[in-house]
Amino acid sequence: MANDNMTQQEQRMVRSPMSDTSRDREPVRRARTPVETGWLIMREKDEHATCRQVRRLSWSGRLWLVAKVARDTWTLAGNFWYDFVRVWKYSSAIWTGNSQAKLAALVTMAAHGIEKGLSLPAPRPGFGRELIELLLCRLERYLVLFGPDRVTRAAVDALRAYRDFHAGRGISDPALETRLARLECVCDSAEKDRGLKLGGVAVIRREQFLEDARIDLTRFFASRHSVREFSDHPVNIGDIEAAVRLAMYTPSCCNRQAARVWLVQERDRIQGVLTIQEGARGFKEQVPMVLVVTADLACFQSAGERYQAWIDGGLFAMSLVWALHSRGLVSCMLNWSKRKEKDRELRAYLGIPQSENIVVLIAVGHPPPTWRVAVSARRPLCEVLRVDEGRDGA
Ligand SMILES: Cc1cc2nc3c(=O)[nH]c(=O)nc-3n(C[C@H](O)[C@H](O)[C@H](O)COP(=O)(O)O)c2cc1C
Repeated sequence: MANDNMTQQEQRMVRSPMSDTSRDREPVRRARTPVETGWLIMREKDEHATCRQVRRLSWSGRLWLVAKVARDTWTLAGNFWYDFVRVWKYSSAIWTGNSQAKLAALVTMAAHGIEKGLSLPAPRPGFGRELIELLLCRLERYLVLFGPDRVTRAAVDALRAYRDFHAGRGISDPALETRLARLECVCDSAEKDRGLKLGGVAVIRREQFLEDARIDLTRFFASRHSVREFSDHPVNIGDIEAAVRLAMYTPSCCNRQAARVWLVQERDRIQGVLTIQEGARGFKEQVPMVLVVTADLACFQSAGERYQAWIDGGLFAMSLVWALHSRGLVSCMLNWSKRKEKDRELRAYLGIPQSENIVVLIAVGHPPPTWRVAVSARRPLCEVLRVDEGRDGA
């Protein structure tokens, strides 16, 4: 079971796991250095075994262990602090709407609340009065500060859909209509003339939905692998644009669309990025393009949303990988679970602002004629799908 990537310590662990009773009886101090024992303790899930090992440690071993726990705790806290400060500063959790990106997200969020209400099976007439007021205030503020754009047009379309829904039921709200008429004057543009709707609701027919959605995707899903070999064929930016456009169909929290993609295509820059990333050893020289998926903290607005950027960015990244796959490109996600020092290093290298969370990197290229992939066996379905059997199911 031991493999080449394991350290000597790890290989010893695999060959003689902790559950081996003969080894358990062996005095730990003789068999392992304190460093090794500490390493095992950190990974040992069995509490009793951990206590037993600690008791067997020499004083210097115990001291070492305390120092290690203290140091690692400090490092962990420092890294949480780094994330905390960025959420504190760059999201709307504390400094609400104090930048264009933040205010745009707040407008979108409120407008989307209206759209969502209108898309319910039986919207209640007069619903969302407070939300309408909030949206109007945010929208008016946004227009004063930044003028009309796609965000305000989408919001005005949502308000228009709200007004029309009520007009259809013989309900009128003169105050809303006056404010909306003013906003329409400022925001309406060529899009409306072309009949392009940016907000409100759309009606979908089941037949159309089934026709669009019922494609057997088994082969598509099963043929994607993380690929670490690429041909020399350069990647066309048009393909990336098309893939990003597809990935933009990914759902996002209140349609705030926090995900961003940074494209790195110059050879030296790619090598620089991958050297910082450290997870593409053995194939980084072949990588023809790197995408960095980030998520803008400005799109999020409360303590409850402190992790939402990771979630929305992750969802987007996966869609992007599928989209690249659909364009005949191969890819490998490259992990960005990094400490703050590394995070700062990549930001400085690419100029990624602190207001964006770096979610993951993706190596992209064309496939060679043949290539090898890791089998990466999947868990059985029963381990993944856990069906609730109701109160009596236990
Ligand atoms: C978030 C994330 C980070 C990853 N980081 C790396 C990496 O740094 N280096 C690498 O070679 N593979 C990386 N991978 C690829 C995984 O090893 C791979 O997805 C997994 O083994 C499943 O294999 P498959 O993608 O071929 O189905 C990463 C995958 C994900 C989802």
